[in-house]
Amino acid sequence: MIAEGGPSLTAQRVAAHRLGYDRIPAPYGDPAADDALAAEVAGDIQVPDGRMHEYLAVRTAFFDRIVVSAIDRGTGQIVIGGAGYDGRALRYAAPGVRWFEVDHPATQRDKLAKLRQLGLDAGHVRFVAVDFTQDPADERLTGAGLDASAPTLFLLEGVAVYLEAAVLEALLGQFRDVAAPGSRLAISMPVTGTFRAGSRFRAAVAGLGEPALSRFEPSEAEGLLARTGWHLAARTGQDDEPAAARHERLRVAGLLTAQAGPRELPALPGR
Ligand SMILES: C[S@@+](CC[C@H](N)C(=O)[O-])C[C@H]1O[C@@H](n2cnc3c(N)ncnc32)[C@H](O)[C@@H]1O
Repeated sequence: MIAEGGPSLTAQRVAAHRLGYDRIPAPYGDPAADDALAAEVAGDIQVPDGRMHEYLAVRTAFFDRIVVSAIDRGTGQIVIGGAGYDGRALRYAAPGVRWFEVDHPATQRDKLAKLRQLGLDAGHVRFVAVDFTQDPADERLTGAGLDASAPTLFLLEGVAVYLEAAVLEALLGQFRDVAAPGSRLAISMPVTGTFRAGSRFRAAVAGLGEPALSRFEPSEAEGLLARTGWHLAARTGQDDEPAAARHERLRVAGLLTAQAGPRELPALPGR
């Protein structure tokens, strides 16, 4: 949820945090453009060192690696859900890769204004305005030119916690509806026991007018993904990450990758 009318304040704070991190390098793209956008967004925001800063450093590196390895494997479409001021479409712009940024209209409007003001070229990015609580992301994406027959990388970073479970489930199902075989999802989930499920984080974001609306046990997170047709990477046996490492990441930070597959039916009670 977003405070009435204005751009997302949590997204602005994430941009300010990211200015302090070393990023995963790539032989393409324009990191300076991303940094310029983040600096403009951050303005006077001061972000303290501490658990949030450490958590976002790990999360940023996780999503950077996913993006770079997907591009290196030849993925031609990347969708960023709840993109905020994420500048990866600039930082990792690569020949032949089409980017789609899906975000709440209030935040997206502000980002577009800042890109224009800074004179940054985002001609390779389609900006798709969607309120996840009411708009169909799948229709909007295909309407913006997403090719549902080609593999896509979907990112959902720092967004799930701001959505009610039912809204998140609908959104993941909509992504799956336009995900060709070979598509992947990277998502940060507010899993019990992680920083984002904790009371300090929840009090901080509620104070910014963007309350946390969901929290999941690890098995609930996995079940929700499976019901919407997203299968945690290690279960498919096709990922290079050992299962033990996946469980550790899930426990520690709720950072997950999944592959598009069949939708699993929910387990019947008592089974
Ligand atoms: C904490 S920010 C994360 C931004 C970005 N993914 C990043 O990591 O820098 C949360 C994002 O979720 C988006 N969001 C929250 N609720 C939304 C909704 N109902 N519909 C669309 N976007 C939403 C906000 O606009 C914001 O961009």
